[in-house]
Amino acid sequence: MVEVAIMGFGVVGSGVAEVLTSHQESIARRAKQEIHIKYILDIRDFADSPYASKFTKSFETILNDPEIKVVAEVIGGLNPSYDYVKQLLQNGKSVVTSNKELVAQKGAELLKIAQDNNVNFLFEASVGGGIPIIRPMNQCLAANDVIEIAGILNGTTNFILTKMIREQMTFDDALSMAQRLGYAERNPAADIEGLDACRKICILASLAYGRHVYPDQVHTQGITNITLEDVAYAEDWGGVIKLIGQAKKLENGQIQVVVAPMFVGRESQLAGVDDVFNAILVRGDATGDVVFYGKGAGKLPTASAVVADIIDCVKHTEKRIYLYWADAQEGYVSDYEESVIPVYMRATAPGMDDETAVGIADELFGGVRRLYRDNAPREEIAFVTKELPLREIKRLRDELEHRGVSVISMVRISDLT
Ligand code: HSE
Repeated sequence: MVEVAIMGFGVVGSGVAEVLTSHQESIARRAKQEIHIKYILDIRDFADSPYASKFTKSFETILNDPEIKVVAEVIGGLNPSYDYVKQLLQNGKSVVTSNKELVAQKGAELLKIAQDNNVNFLFEASVGGGIPIIRPMNQCLAANDVIEIAGILNGTTNFILTKMIREQMTFDDALSMAQRLGYAERNPAADIEGLDACRKICILASLAYGRHVYPDQVHTQGITNITLEDVAYAEDWGGVIKLIGQAKKLENGQIQVVVAPMFVGRESQLAGVDDVFNAILVRGDATGDVVFYGKGAGKLPTASAVVADIIDCVKHTEKRIYLYWADAQEGYVSDYEESVIPVYMRATAPGMDDETAVGIADELFGGVRRLYRDNAPREEIAFVTKELPLREIKRLRDELEHRGVSVISMVRISDLT
């Protein structure tokens, strides 16, 4: 029998306890021994919980108990998780976590500590909830060079955008619903501002390309400025708006990483991924496109990924599973403004007729494709530019404003097919 501890009894932590208990027999069969929860760490009291006797408020009790071989960190955030995980690994205990902030900010360092102490640090649940993605990328796709990763990595924002697209629901109503359903982060700003998706693409890019990408190296935009008008223009263009995290290897060896709302063509596999579902497309040089799809958030999907990591650690108590990437390097992530892309713009030109406004855009951008929607005000125009360096697009947008056409929104057009 192996003794384990769970740190944090929130949505995911309670799910981990539930899965370990309800699937006890099948888990024991797969792990080749019984897995027993010895402690649950939480600062709160849970007197009525069926696990009441296991609760402790003392991290040191877990750290110093030689019987504890594996610890699940599901507290979330950096503080105190980072300090706890570091000490546990240094003390020879394997750690599994769903904490994407921890892995995105401290992954390289913690993987190195795990390696030095011959223990495992696994984080399948940190990206895509219940979708297997870390292990497949690390093992099954290992023979490939990853050309590109593109994903819908945040369930909350995908849920909100789906409600806006399919039911014309307002942003605020859809967000409240996502929070009620337990999809959103404690502070939903991390979801809607794109930070959660950023952490996940950082983890995937680090894993795929072997060098840590930190969140502050990634241009990150959320969905708070997306309106039902933009949704209608995307429909006329031939697609939908999705929050996409994308990482690509450039010919010069740099990595291009971005999180932003994008117009995605209807023919793309990612366009049909709705509600809380996530999908991650990995383009390998040998495999071509492989798409991983499933529930990216929620108690049991995420807990099942945490428990799968616990089982893997129990099966590998004597040896390490190879999972490693090096620390970051100056100049490794390319400058976002150098990306060459087309964009969609919605603008208003008070006192000007729409033909004149579109004419100005057409002249400045060297040709644009105009878009339409029902019931647009007379002074509103929308169009898609040609592929241009983003720096140049921004300069031309300023010029457009200078000539009396104010841009209300600007969204990237993705190259996802
Ligand atoms: N808030 C996250 C999401 C939870 O909505 O995807 C899973 O990481």
